[in-house]
Amino acid sequence: MSEQLIEVVDQAGIVTLTINRPKALNALNSAVLTELDRLLGELQAREGLRAVLITGAGEKAFVAGADIAEMRDKTPEEARCFARQALATFKRLETLPVPTVALVNGFCLGGGCELALACDWAVASDNAIFGQPEVLLGVIPGFGGTQRLPRRVGPSMALDLCTTGRKVDAAEALRIGLVNRVMAQSELPAYVEELTKQLGGNGPAAVRAAKQAIHDGMDQDLESALALETSLFALCFAGDEQPEGMSAFVDKRKPNF
Ligand code: CAA
Repeated sequence: MSEQLIEVVDQAGIVTLTINRPKALNALNSAVLTELDRLLGELQAREGLRAVLITGAGEKAFVAGADIAEMRDKTPEEARCFARQALATFKRLETLPVPTVALVNGFCLGGGCELALACDWAVASDNAIFGQPEVLLGVIPGFGGTQRLPRRVGPSMALDLCTTGRKVDAAEALRIGLVNRVMAQSELPAYVEELTKQLGGNGPAAVRAAKQAIHDGMDQDLESALALETSLFALCFAGDEQPEGMSAFVDKRKPNF
């Protein structure tokens, strides 16, 4: 692997970003966050983008947290700036118009777990370890964990994890809804292939609309969110994917989106 802080692979619009600091278990320092932000900014405007996958280099870690060595001597104001930098970058990731998936290939702790939580969903290798161990360091999660974790696993489980700092294996992560699927680490590349086929075969505008409906609707009351769904559903009938998709079904052929 080259010396880039983040490796980028583009396979038919499915872009994989690999955090590449394996010697520090891919810990997030300012330089990595700056580079991630730059890449996500480019992807926001990228035509033909279908999905963004995030993973960590090496077999040991997805991301083992924010960089503790870099954080150690920060003043409160510097810590605030560092957290704001990460939050802005994670927001960019969260609001990309296409599905985003964390491929968790090992330790996924602290800021790493928060990075995974900023993705639409996560799949994990069976050796993955999750946790928000910040209290062991005398701090709390600062990259969104206290807010996105309860929204993913419920407030009670989030309180358990954030106050004890205990680690969770892949089986428990699956059980509590922190990840959608667990597989052997060697199966992760096949999952990317499967996802590339699935998402590549679907109408790209429809996929984006589904994400928009769910994300924007979650912030609204049910009635407003259902009205949003209706608008986006109707909008699908104004594009060229709906006639192709439904004609293909009636004609018993594969749609060509
Ligand atoms: N920051 C900086 N360096 C880290 C790191 C981190 N979060 N996690 C691991 N590393 C470094 C280690 O210092 C070590 O470097 P050296 O070889 O130069 O000594 C290298 O990665 C390998 O780590 P270990 O030798 O510790 O590997 P291990 O297999 O014995 O343990 C581990 C693995 C259990 C993940 C352990 O490294 C660990 O506990 N890491 C810290 C996890 C953590 O506390 N994360 C939360 C950080 S705080 C945070 O993220 C706050 C926030 O919300 C913003």
